[in-house]
Amino acid sequence: MRRHAKPLLFMLCSLPLAWLAARAFGLAGMGLGANPVDELQDELGQWGLRLLLATLCVTPLATTLRRPWIMGLRRMLGLFAFTYIVLHFANWLVLDRWFDGGAIVADIAKRPYITVGFASLLMLLPLAVTSTNGWMRRLGRRWHRLHRLVYPAAVLGCLHYWWQVKADWREPLLYATILALLLAWRLRRAWTRRAGAAARGSSVRDRSGLAAAMACGA
Ligand code: HEM
Repeated sequence: MRRHAKPLLFMLCSLPLAWLAARAFGLAGMGLGANPVDELQDELGQWGLRLLLATLCVTPLATTLRRPWIMGLRRMLGLFAFTYIVLHFANWLVLDRWFDGGAIVADIAKRPYITVGFASLLMLLPLAVTSTNGWMRRLGRRWHRLHRLVYPAAVLGCLHYWWQVKADWREPLLYATILALLLAWRLRRAWTRRAGAAARGSSVRDRSGLAAAMACGA
């Protein structure tokens, strides 16, 4: 399973894109419906957000199941999420807005859901660029700090979805709930680690204080 995990994941993550391409090119009588540009926009956005949330599930899953090899799948999932999101953006830029600079700037500035979507994309960009081993080595500890941007990016992604829903809240609510649970897991882990480190620090201090007191003959 471990050996086949990466190729399997690659295939799974490519499937929605292949399915969309087949529909876009009208293979086997398939199509994208009455409004193909909107359909592409929605499907690419949905898959981008789903894969972003799946990327955030990797660490809790690997830790809870005690399977460190699962961590090796995180980069691929993250890059696939980014690919879907960039295609989602490109579809809007090219097929929806036809590179109309004025309309693009007006949308980003005046439509809050586009503003937050754009901010989310800008946050994900440096993460994709620095996802290579070379950048990991070069940035060292700063790499982990930089990659924490994935959390606000996911929050903005959920907000972007939430903001445009007119009637059916179920799906954005589901994504927001999953994200809230993932963030709660991380906060709890950070808190437990800090408490553990503080306890270790104080026991070291206690021991060295005791040793000093014994040395003084107290
Ligand atoms: C510059 C960046 C972005 C632009 C211009 C943009 C634009 C859009 C537009 C025009 C829609 C369709 C709205 C409608 O149906 O009325 C949409 C939907 C959506 N976008 Fe974005 N988006 C951006 C970034 C993002 C990002 C970063 C994510 C995910 C992290 C995302 C996820 C979604 C989702 C989930 C939907 C809803 C799909 C549905 O209704 O089924 N978008 N976006």
